Amino acid sequence: MAWIKEMSWGSWLGVAALAAVPLLALLYYMGAGANGEPASRSRSSDAGVQGKAIYDTVCAGCHGPKGEGQTGWQRQNADGSYPPPPHNNEGHTWHHGDGTLFATVQQGGQIFEQPGFVSRMPAYGSSLSAEQIKSVISYIKTFWGPEELHSQQQQSLRDPFSS
Ligand code: HEC
Repeated sequence: MAWIKEMSWGSWLGVAALAAVPLLALLYYMGAGANGEPASRSRSSDAGVQGKAIYDTVCAGCHGPKGEGQTGWQRQNADGSYPPPPHNNEGHTWHHGDGTLFATVQQGGQIFEQPGFVSRMPAYGSSLSAEQIKSVISYIKTFWGPEELHSQQQQSLRDPFSS
């Protein structure tokens, strides 16, 4: 049923393309700030709101609105890629430290490519600032339970955010 996979990857690309329009509007809005303040001066309490807004606009189309991922995410596609995995307790996002999660979002899954594995995780380094990437990663952490949070915190001691 190769065409089903083709269709589904076609629609991921569609999702990614559609997401670009509201993303630009969102980034413009956040850049200007609600009261016309520059983003750099926005209060840190805005970070959670910002992380959710970015997640819902940019990531949810592939990873699911609540981080549930796509069904069959553990089954490799014929082209060597995998469907978008969950970010909740069911997935393995919480197995990685902050440094690895940051690099994945900034540089894309291509940094982990190896013979037999192709990544469909896009790189966001040119569209999201370091601060925005950190805020979306913080938002993903709201999908985890206390054990996953604790384990990922320990992992991040060895693999912290680099900047
Ligand atoms: C076009 C679909 C797509 C979009 C949009 C997308 N991802 Fe991914 N993402 C993937 C796929 C597929 C993987 C699985 C790993 C791979 O194949 O490289 C992945 C993997 C990841 C991982 C690693 C998970 C793990 O367990 O190792 C993180 C973290 C991640 N994505 C975060 C994000 C964030 C944050 C966004 C939004 C800024 C986002 N992704 C947007 C497809 C996508």
